[in-house]
Amino acid sequence: MDLLEFYGLKEDPFKLTPDPLYFYPSGSHNEALLSLNYVIEQKEGFCLITGEPGTGKTTLLNVLLGRWRDNAEIALILTPRLSPEEFLISVLEDLNLKLKDKTKNDMLKAFRDFLIEKSLGGRRVLIIVDEAQDLPDETLEELRLLSNLETTKEKLLQIILIGQPELEKRLRADNLKQLNQRITIRVRLSPLTITETPDYINYRLVKAGKGFLRLDEKSMKPIHNFSKGIPRIINLLSSRALMSAYLEGSNLVTLRHVHYAMSHLSDSTIDNRKRLYKIIYGFTAIILLTIVGVVVYNYLPIHRDQQSALKQVQGRNQTQTQTQTPEPPVSNIEPSSTAPLTGSPVKQQPTPPSPVLRYVVVKTSAANIRAEPRIDADKIRLAYKGERLARSGDYKSIDATGRKWYKLMVDKDRVGWIADSVVILKE
Ligand SMILES: Nc1ncnc2c1ncn2[C@@H]1O[C@H](COP(=O)(O)OP(=O)(O)OP(=O)(O)O)[C@@H](O)[C@H]1O
Ligand SMILES: [Mg+2]
Repeated sequence: MDLLEFYGLKEDPFKLTPDPLYFYPSGSHNEALLSLNYVIEQKEGFCLITGEPGTGKTTLLNVLLGRWRDNAEIALILTPRLSPEEFLISVLEDLNLKLKDKTKNDMLKAFRDFLIEKSLGGRRVLIIVDEAQDLPDETLEELRLLSNLETTKEKLLQIILIGQPELEKRLRADNLKQLNQRITIRVRLSPLTITETPDYINYRLVKAGKGFLRLDEKSMKPIHNFSKGIPRIINLLSSRALMSAYLEGSNLVTLRHVHYAMSHLSDSTIDNRKRLYKIIYGFTAIILLTIVGVVVYNYLPIHRDQQSALKQVQGRNQTQTQTQTPEPPVSNIEPSSTAPLTGSPVKQQPTPPSPVLRYVVVKTSAANIRAEPRIDADKIRLAYKGERLARSGDYKSIDATGRKWYKLMVDKDRVGWIADSVVILKE
């Protein structure tokens, strides 16, 4: 039985897609939505919505589109790393104006005619840019020029920019001052408050069919504190905690499940792009430095002398070992599956030192790490598919049923055991 069946849910309550059907109207989201509708209804020119990653900007946008898709002409730009020309072409294509291979002046003229025609017909025209922090400066300037298209009576075009807070900062720069002055409405999406977080979680559960699932009240505050009220992180955390409860067959998600989820999200999964970029830059720098180091080291004259001396010694050793019994290959560290069935719990045997195999990676959806190399030993914790676990030395063990176990470093000074059947050995 899978998780959804077990809890009687229609679908995953904490999926990470910006699904408007799950839109929870928090104080801040509601205010943003009202402002956006106002901008469109009143034909205010320019609106800026900002918010930290994962606060719900795209979800909000999808709600807005649901309301206006049939009542306005909308050019929706989702990948805004475009030059001014490319941007203009994308806008016109979205509005079904086929103007490829025309000069820019032709395009602008046709666009203006289109706006006037729509305005006479009482239809609004919107340009909406998501991830607008990625717009190059020249393209932002192009947008300003487009926003100049107006009649003496009214704006012909509404522009909505949605992006991360760094966009506000960019707009304050001297070269974008004029555009900044055009923005009539600005809304900052805030994270959920401490009272909204439990409401949000319950709201999503109800939307997904709720079923037999309950979240312990005591887990709400820790979820809020950890996620800082950011819906994407609340979803990630709740989803992990739910999986952990499911694997224990529990209908109640407790504080323990939430703590477990936190320990798995704290360093890796939180969607913090800035942190991710820092890590990538850090790694790139380390790799480059290592390459430079290796090249320099290999070309040092003293090192070349050492290498040739080493080669001579190796050559001599090889001639000697050819006459001896060969070493078993590294893969022979696996014990035979016909190991004796007596002697429970186990014999621990140090395997020949292996410089290569140092990790195991979990291959099943979840696996238990146990205190002893036996199926009935105490569980230390669950490990999830893809999780990489450091091995403790090269110890492995075979239990009374012939099952092989690997010894792991669970944390700084605790070891545990995991069954060979649920992992893959990695270098
Ligand atoms: N008000 C909300 N109601 C319901 N779900 C929400 C809400 N806000 C955010 N979410 C959920 O949080 C997750 C992230 O939302 P979304 O993608 O809209 O964030 P974002 O601000 O656009 O992030 P990014 O800056 O990375 O583009 C999604 O799973 C979405 O369903
Ligand atoms: Mg988004």
